[in-house]
Amino acid sequence: MTTMKEEEKITQPFSPDVLPPNKVICIRLCGHNLKIAITFDSSQGVSGIIWNAGVVLCNYFEKEAIRFSGKKVIELGSGTGLVGILAALLGGEVTLTDQAYALPQIEVNVAANIPPSDVRRSTISALSWGQDQNSFPADYDIILGSELVFHPSSYIPLLQTLLHLSHKETVIYLCSAMNPYTMSSSFYHDTLPPYFNCQLVYRDESKNCNVYKVTKI
Ligand SMILES: C[S@@+](CC[C@H](N)C(=O)[O-])C[C@H]1O[C@@H](n2cnc3c(N)ncnc32)[C@H](O)[C@@H]1O
Repeated sequence: MTTMKEEEKITQPFSPDVLPPNKVICIRLCGHNLKIAITFDSSQGVSGIIWNAGVVLCNYFEKEAIRFSGKKVIELGSGTGLVGILAALLGGEVTLTDQAYALPQIEVNVAANIPPSDVRRSTISALSWGQDQNSFPADYDIILGSELVFHPSSYIPLLQTLLHLSHKETVIYLCSAMNPYTMSSSFYHDTLPPYFNCQLVYRDESKNCNVYKVTKI
């Protein structure tokens, strides 16, 4: 078991190649001290760690004082659950989703960070894009996603999922590292625009991450 001081030392940077496996990351976001378990091995794939885009999206919430109280929120591809947990701590009624294999880690992190008095406002469910979205309602106020756009084969299933879950008033916040190898910019410039307004609202230059505010046309 590491001490809090040791854990704090490994909170920067979040680059996946420098993170040791199976650690607890301590991070303060929007006035909340979060302890997020990460698993950097093949059992969790890309969902096991905190990606820069998740941290940048949380920083954007803080900078813009985004309000979650009383809002019905769904997070796609939650990974460790960092973003959805913060949205729940900020008052949202949040459904954290990912592929089934990733859910146990989200459950651990929800239990560790959301007090029992608030835990009824968070739900954890399996949602594979392009397959499961029709089992979910279509009336979310806010949809969240960080570092979801990293393989072109998932762009259409992700688009189908966003189309089902949203209505004209839904606000979707997506954050991505703008990595030329993943061609993430084409999702925002080509895939979304026929169906959604897609506005770049924040950029973290040091992490090369963009936050987009997306609404249905
Ligand atoms: C790069 S990770 C980002 C995790 C987290 N959002 C973050 O920022 O730290 C991508 C996440 O999307 C999930 N994912 C990938 N393809 C998916 C799919 N087809 N359906 C649902 N989730 C998927 C992965 O399991 C993983 O948790």
